[in-house]
Amino acid sequence: MDIRALGYLAIGAVDVPGWSAFASEVLGVMTDTVASGDLLLRTDDRPYRIRIRPSDTEQIDGVGWEVAGAAALEAAASELENAGIAVGRDPQLARERRVTDLVAFVAPDGTQHELFWGAELDYTPFISPAGTSGFVTGALGLGHVVLVTEAVDEASRFYMDVMGFRLSDTMTLSGTRVVFLHCNGRHHSLALGGGRGAALAHFMLEVATVDDVGCALDRAADHGVRIRQSLGRHTNDQMLSFYAATPSGFSVEYGWGARVIDDADWTPTETTRGSYWGHRRPPRPADS
Ligand code: FE2
Repeated sequence: MDIRALGYLAIGAVDVPGWSAFASEVLGVMTDTVASGDLLLRTDDRPYRIRIRPSDTEQIDGVGWEVAGAAALEAAASELENAGIAVGRDPQLARERRVTDLVAFVAPDGTQHELFWGAELDYTPFISPAGTSGFVTGALGLGHVVLVTEAVDEASRFYMDVMGFRLSDTMTLSGTRVVFLHCNGRHHSLALGGGRGAALAHFMLEVATVDDVGCALDRAADHGVRIRQSLGRHTNDQMLSFYAATPSGFSVEYGWGARVIDDADWTPTETTRGSYWGHRRPPRPADS
């Protein structure tokens, strides 16, 4: 399967107005609300990279993976079916996702994924409402997602053997195992962390400058956003980042300066330390 990049993330959320304010005022991304009530978050020249549907529950609607074209999508759909995974086709959903065609399926870990090709591109310049200079996307995709799953190694086998992700490295810290996977030069577009149930742990947005990170950290403080992990620098992808709580409860990692890797000279390692410095977890307030 020839997955090129993480294309989009679609979620259902209870507090969509909260998301709108959080996205524009803290993350510095452009927002738009469509007739259905869905909130679109734009970080580059695509109509959206994150779609938030008003919902009674917090959930992942679809993690969208971009493939090379129509033939690649057909080949991928066949590979999924050969692996015993049912694939769904929905032209209405493709229109909603602003892509030419897609297939939707549920991975063995319970995560709803979509494979697509032919993303709409309107070439409108990205202008941040909060002064963020820009987000690093392009061939590296939207950023990354980290999923919680009960069986990390079994789940990662599916993502590698069927979906074609390559192993970046693994980490076991405080008894929690995390497997980092890549599909392009971004060190990881997908990671799987051990935990109960199946859920989104966090997604990551990478900004263009270190000052973009600092300014976002200031805005988070100004808006009373809870910081889940302080500013720090990760070892494996070398990302300088902080983690903040989103209105959906999961975190967003907001970072800069990650390495770009090359399969020609990459070998997986077992990381025993998650960060060079920082990424400390502040004590939880007594009322939460
Ligand atoms: Fe991350």
